[in-house]
Amino acid sequence: MEAYERVGWGRLGEGTVESSYISPDIRWQAEGKLAGPSFWPRLVRGEVFRENAAEFMRTNAKRYGDLVGFRALGRQVLQFNHPELVQEMLVRDASHHHRNLVMQRSKDILGEGLLTSEEPLHMRQRRLAQPAFHRQRISAYGEVISQATIRMTQHWPSGAVLDVRAEMMLLALRIVGKTLFDTELEQDVEKIAAAADAFQSYLPLAWLPLSRALQASPLPSMRRIRKGREELDELIYRMIRERRADPRDRGDLLSMLISSVDTEGAEAGGASASMSDTQVRDECLTVMLAGHETTANALSFVLWLLAEHPEIQEELAEESARVLQGRAPTAADYPALKFAEQVFAEALRLYPPVWVTARTAAESYAYRGMTIENGTILVAPQFAVHRDARFYAEPLKFDPSRFTAEAKAARPKMAYFPFGAGSRQCIGEGLAWMEGTLCLAAMMQEWRVVRLEGAARSIALAPSVTLRPKGPVRLRVERRARA
Ligand code: HEM
Repeated sequence: MEAYERVGWGRLGEGTVESSYISPDIRWQAEGKLAGPSFWPRLVRGEVFRENAAEFMRTNAKRYGDLVGFRALGRQVLQFNHPELVQEMLVRDASHHHRNLVMQRSKDILGEGLLTSEEPLHMRQRRLAQPAFHRQRISAYGEVISQATIRMTQHWPSGAVLDVRAEMMLLALRIVGKTLFDTELEQDVEKIAAAADAFQSYLPLAWLPLSRALQASPLPSMRRIRKGREELDELIYRMIRERRADPRDRGDLLSMLISSVDTEGAEAGGASASMSDTQVRDECLTVMLAGHETTANALSFVLWLLAEHPEIQEELAEESARVLQGRAPTAADYPALKFAEQVFAEALRLYPPVWVTARTAAESYAYRGMTIENGTILVAPQFAVHRDARFYAEPLKFDPSRFTAEAKAARPKMAYFPFGAGSRQCIGEGLAWMEGTLCLAAMMQEWRVVRLEGAARSIALAPSVTLRPKGPVRLRVERRARA
């Protein structure tokens, strides 16, 4: 490992790590002290301009080891790069943590939905929303997923060059709209996509001290955010009004939220027994935004990877044709679409849509012989752990065989955590797997994606709150000849 630049960690750096606590395969600094990057040497090496935030954290992991300390905008940051440490941060020590600062400040936009709320409200809301994500419900969504995919792709002109990211955004939004809100969202799709874009560009700024003032400013980007919020509010409150007027159970998330009776919350003297419109709005907005952007990014990365690896694409097309025999896929096909699921899993490894999971220490606590101070920012970067050569040989290679049952069993569980872990683990994970697998099978049965001649061999990344491709993902789509 390269020599590190400085310890620079206040109290943490002064403490000596008790090596007896550390499992032998966790790399640590020889002196038992934390190390991490500092700004000036990075500037001299040009990394400040070259690396995006995701690459920065991956470099940290390679250069400084499993636990890295650095300062960012006057705050201490502690970066966990080993599966064992990730498990400790996200699961074992979760009671010491708040949501991260960005999520806390996002309440201005998202309200108090699942992503932003703290305990005990979070657990109550999660219990109320959970039935919409149960296995049987998700099975019922299978048909919606494949019909939406087929409806979208049937308009593709064969041989045309498309921005598949824009296509996947539309598709994911239609799927979230229909499955969770039983709404077509057809005429609102553009509004929602534009608002989601505006929110994404603001959220990384949300942790700046003057973020609230910035939000109220007349800057065009801030005006877009306010407009986006108004338009989404109008749309969601309209859905709520219509549903309250006709409260028949449609088995979707909206029905569950509206008919929910929170006896525990009422007994605790907290929220009233049923959810207010504002609470329902906050949950709907959260799920709408969390549920479409992540899946759309994942599908865009998969299509790009498949265009780069035609042999893998053909294997996937062969599986889709064999399992589906020309039919639209349903949830019943999911277990047989093994290779499609592996392809989706491998894309989530290389390009995890949530590339880092962050928390803030809510109190000072002892950790492996050190003290983590109240207010410290804790980060577990999926992007770095998923590309660690200790767990994935040739980590940059796209290789779906890493996700056979045997290969998965041979790795530490938390070497792969695209959906997080612990009490805040993604509530939509089951839906996302079903969506990724069925969309891929439905598309590959009919279509081939082809890289454009002269196109770059790597995809530029724009990590914000989610990991997105930088700019459009342009690929040629060709209809397959029927066998
Ligand atoms: C490939 C697709 C997806 C990925 C990679 C993903 C990833 C994640 C991750 C890592 C978290 C945990 C964040 C944290 O611990 O701070 C999370 C939370 C969440 N996700 Fe997903 N997600 C995906 C799809 C979905 C879908 C389809 C939905 C809903 C329709 C959804 C709704 C949510 C919600 C509501 C939370 C907050 C859960 C809580 O705090 O209780 N996600 N997601």
